[in-house]
Amino acid sequence: MNHVKDQLQRPLRDLRISVTDRCNFRCSYCMPAEVFGPDYAFLPHDKILSFEEIQRLVKVFVSLGVEKIRITGGEPLLRKDLPTLIHMIDAVEGVKDIAMTTNGTLLKKFAQPLKDAGLQRVSISLDSLDEDRFFEMNGRRGRVKTVLEGIEKAAEVGLQVKINMVVKKGVNDQDIEQMAAFFKERQHILRYIEYMDVGNSNGWRLDDVVSKKEIVEKVNAFSPIQPIAPNYTGEVASRFEYADQKTEVGVISSVTDSFCSTCSRARISAEGKLYTCLFATKGTDLRDLIRNEEDDEIVLKQISHVWENRIDRYSDERNEQTMKERKKHKIEMSHIGG
Ligand code: GTP
Ligand code: 5AD
Ligand code: SF4
Ligand code: SF4
Repeated sequence: MNHVKDQLQRPLRDLRISVTDRCNFRCSYCMPAEVFGPDYAFLPHDKILSFEEIQRLVKVFVSLGVEKIRITGGEPLLRKDLPTLIHMIDAVEGVKDIAMTTNGTLLKKFAQPLKDAGLQRVSISLDSLDEDRFFEMNGRRGRVKTVLEGIEKAAEVGLQVKINMVVKKGVNDQDIEQMAAFFKERQHILRYIEYMDVGNSNGWRLDDVVSKKEIVEKVNAFSPIQPIAPNYTGEVASRFEYADQKTEVGVISSVTDSFCSTCSRARISAEGKLYTCLFATKGTDLRDLIRNEEDDEIVLKQISHVWENRIDRYSDERNEQTMKERKKHKIEMSHIGG
């Protein structure tokens, strides 16, 4: 074992792997349809890491300290035979937790095979319970009903479920209370996410952000909540619990209350680039390295080198200057994974 730490003494614990840059939704805050149109050039198959290549990288990352794996996209369930990949990751000794972030549209079909393959947890994105608003937000692609069926199926087969709601001012902040009520009743964990300036396509403005403070006030007015301790060091969500029921509700506040000091997350894009921050402007290619290099020691050295030199803390440092510097150069969220 060769556990690495970065320049700010942060260990490498989580690996988020994007398995495709494609998605069947066009959420305005992530893949706006005007930018990701019919002519958009998605990655061709041979440029995407194979399951064997992903498994090989997972082994190397585990030897550097990674314990948690999260599969993301784009929409990960668009990748063919995904349960096979989960099974291959589950077979790697040292992997303690396998989770996936999905929009839930294909979950009804895949929840059982994913669970059987070793998936433990799933985060499902849902921004509104109102069919019209949801339809507008996801680029007129998906229905609330389909996502809810996916959520229920996932819970039914024994996957641990969390719901993610990105809150955008004037768009779906009116749904905060209704979402709280709905998921409190069903006893699912709901997390509100502050709208972030990831990528370059979503036209982000600070005015569009609904702050953690405002969200907590609204939920508290609906039904009183109290803070509870994090599950683990570096958890992204601030956790709360209802005073009258042991159901958790959380807020992910990367804009108004950042959490970089404990960030132990590395990301690999579908084409095999390593990124050490969600707001990175460049990555390190691992695909050609593993395609040309049979010796895992060399791959390990390269990854250690990148992590040991890591200084990223974008959310802590976000200001006009850093936003200007990175303008147009950030990697898209659909590419790097959520
Ligand atoms: P667990 O705590 O393991 O359940 O996972 P998680 O909350 O990290 O996973 P999930 O994919 O559900 O994350 C929810 C959202 O939090 C993501 O979609 C991002 O919007 C945000 N997020 C996750 N990791 C980071 C990060 O490192 N930096 C920032 N700024 N936001 C993040
Ligand atoms: N701000 C906050 N969260 C975002 N997500 C995608 N784009 C953004 C953004 N700009 C979230 C999705 C999903 C996960 C993949 O990332 O809602 O939960
Ligand atoms: Fe697709 Fe998720 Fe991005 Fe929406 S947020 S476009 S569902 S990857
Ligand atoms: Fe980690 Fe970068 Fe997010 Fe900070 S902004 S928590 S360093 S991914």
